[in-house]
Amino acid sequence: MSQRTLVLLKPDAVRRGLVGEILGRIETKANWQIVALELRTLEREVLEQHYGEHMGKPFYEPLMEFMASGPVVALVVKGERVIEGVRALAGPTDPIAAAPGSIRGDFGTIVRENLIHASDSEESAEREMKIFFPGLA
Ligand code: PPS
Repeated sequence: MSQRTLVLLKPDAVRRGLVGEILGRIETKANWQIVALELRTLEREVLEQHYGEHMGKPFYEPLMEFMASGPVVALVVKGERVIEGVRALAGPTDPIAAAPGSIRGDFGTIVRENLIHASDSEESAEREMKIFFPGLA
């Protein structure tokens, strides 16, 4: 089943020079294809749209502040079972709990700075792609 997913390489990934490493893992995994990509510093308004469902949670403000702290790399990846697949490559939210071999397990530090976001369902992917790449067909 071919799908598309929205991925963000978070400001810590860009600051630490991990963009190439992470993109390499995604690109070589399963014949997936990058179909959109942009380096961009996110405005508060975009972050509110993206993380709106978490408003009011204790981590919301720290997350918003962190995500606006520097440029991110936003991309859309297309391919077979790519939604589940990129999340598996990323590992669990908390890097301490992430196994070696996963992106967060190999490079993650603390839960706020967990390097990568990836859509968690087809519905989320559709919604998130529209926020970051409104022109994408
Ligand atoms: S929830 O409540 O289970 O839906 O939350 P979760 O899926 O674990 O996380 C949602 C996003 O919030 C980020 N997060 C945090 N950011 C900063 N500080 C803390 N403590 C924290 N806990 C969770 C988490 O990385 C998710 O962001 P994305 O970009 O979706 O990975």
